[in-house]
Amino acid sequence: MTQLDDVKSRLDIVELVGGYVQLQRAGSSFKANCPFHQERTPSFFVFPDRQSWRCFGACAEGGDAFSFLMKQERVDFREALVRLGARVGITITDQAESGGRSRLLFEINDAARQFFQRMLAEPGAAFVREYLHRRGLNDRSLQTFEFGYSPARDNRLLAHLTNSGYSAEDIAEAGLARETDDGRYYDLFRGRLMIPIRDWSARVAGFGSRALDDNATPKYLNTPGTPVFDKSRILYAMHLAKEPVRQHGAVIVEGYMDAVMAHQHGFDNVVASMGTALTEHQVALVRRLTHRVTMALDGDPAGRNATLRSLESSWGVFQQRDQRSAGQAGASVLQQPEALDLRVAELPPGKDPDDYIRQSPDQWAEFIEAAAPLFDYLLAALTERVDTTNADGRTWAAQTMLRFVAHVPDLIKRDFYLDALSVRFGVDVATLRAAMPAVARTNGPGRRSRRAPAIADEAVPLPGRDRNATEEWVLQLLLQYGEQLSGDTVRSVRPEWFSRSENREILRYVFSRMEPNINDEVSVPTELEPYLERLLNGDLMLPTPAKVERAWQQACLNLERDHLNKEIFQSTDAMEDKDIFETDSEIVRSWLISTNRRREIDLQLQSASPHHK
Ligand code: UTP
Ligand code: MN
Repeated sequence: MTQLDDVKSRLDIVELVGGYVQLQRAGSSFKANCPFHQERTPSFFVFPDRQSWRCFGACAEGGDAFSFLMKQERVDFREALVRLGARVGITITDQAESGGRSRLLFEINDAARQFFQRMLAEPGAAFVREYLHRRGLNDRSLQTFEFGYSPARDNRLLAHLTNSGYSAEDIAEAGLARETDDGRYYDLFRGRLMIPIRDWSARVAGFGSRALDDNATPKYLNTPGTPVFDKSRILYAMHLAKEPVRQHGAVIVEGYMDAVMAHQHGFDNVVASMGTALTEHQVALVRRLTHRVTMALDGDPAGRNATLRSLESSWGVFQQRDQRSAGQAGASVLQQPEALDLRVAELPPGKDPDDYIRQSPDQWAEFIEAAAPLFDYLLAALTERVDTTNADGRTWAAQTMLRFVAHVPDLIKRDFYLDALSVRFGVDVATLRAAMPAVARTNGPGRRSRRAPAIADEAVPLPGRDRNATEEWVLQLLLQYGEQLSGDTVRSVRPEWFSRSENREILRYVFSRMEPNINDEVSVPTELEPYLERLLNGDLMLPTPAKVERAWQQACLNLERDHLNKEIFQSTDAMEDKDIFETDSEIVRSWLISTNRRREIDLQLQSASPHHK
């Protein structure tokens, strides 16, 4: 995307189009006889503010610099990019490189996974299999979770992978080997139980590994950060848990073994956060499938305090993110999404879910059922930590709780919370309400910054100047849930509704793949592959699969509406040139058609909104 954005930001559409047609200034825009059809009075406009063009006449078409060049020179997207790049001094290189790179790293990881699994089956690894059985794991779990063993000596993984044709550098980049100062490579994982970690799309992104000797440190050694592995963005066992999570909500445990044991006992909606405090990204992953999330916290006080702190700082982010996703693309689809229902179940002291489930599998479901809503849990935990008989303690606890409350988007719920705090701390609701804005802004007494760094992370796409959230939302729905949509509904979306050429390209690609008669492998321009990859794997906040069709219809209405707004804006702009207004009624007609259609859409969106049911 960066090259593309770079080219876009340096281009001037007036200059580009001016090279083909004689442009005349018309108010804040420019006009000309349309280069794409025969006409006497100009109905072709270029809008420098928006870097776009539109023909209000027979073509009734418009777009950006890319679509102009594609139409004018009859070239494809890739060629247009190369030519426009050359115009502004940017040489377009093949960005698919990075996509291909990831593919290679996944491939190496998967080869390693197979190798480790084979090693576990060898006679020398009998003690590892015994260890697993001693821990109560059955053969089926070993298969399902693809456990393996990394030989202790001789860098056997490296030898195996290099024999298979992978370079030591690539193996190291996948996180499986390390380089010494004198340039030699060695296996990172030696003599350990290997636990493959698959990502959302079930690709082997990395490994967890456990020491088999309880005195060895570290107990768990994980794949370091690599281009395809970021522990904070993956939930262990998610690839197995998707459907159960959709149906029953998600249960998040802390450890690998906790998740495995849960699945072995049929609790297959369980995923693991892998020991780190739950991150915004992890919440976003489960949020694609469900709004019901229960965290099962280990019953150890140190861990619990860490979790509490992380929840304090991340809760606001979860809520904001929830609200933001609801408010951005396809707003009306999700106007009333079921708010994130985060609950906490705390295990008895000294126990983790693995122990608990092995001892009392029958009680697990009840235990999870009984989880407290986060608010209640935090209130109890906080008041337990401070002396609430004294004013300072009460103030501190009340302020801390107020910070959560301030982030609750639902005003009614917020009122309930304020009531509860008022009763608990003996403070007037009005006082609490008045204190809330200030508290929400400050970092609170003696605490670190409330602003979780995750929110500034560029990898969480925020709708920015150079992106179009609605367009991306529509494409993501299509790419991730397309097979659940009927062909006709999919076809109802029109390429010209997309303002960005790359989005039109992606749509074209999806359409061509739906064509049953075309057997040729259709592909997107290589520059767009990383972008396509992001759309395919990006967070999609969808309540339930049953709502896909509805979400899609509304998303399309929103997309069309945005498109009409642009058209209306442009025709208003063009009409300001009085000359045109008097002599040419095409723009007026286009304006009327657009405003009427927009009114229709508004009515449809309104009647579909949950408020009007
Ligand atoms: P625990 O120490 O609770 O491990 O860490 P566990 O899952 O109960 O492990 P067993 O039962 O002793 O085998 C919870 C999780 O934290 C991460 C791992 O994902 C682990 O499953 N962790 C823990 C690490 O990444 N590194 C460590 O050194 C320890
Ligand atoms: Mn454990």
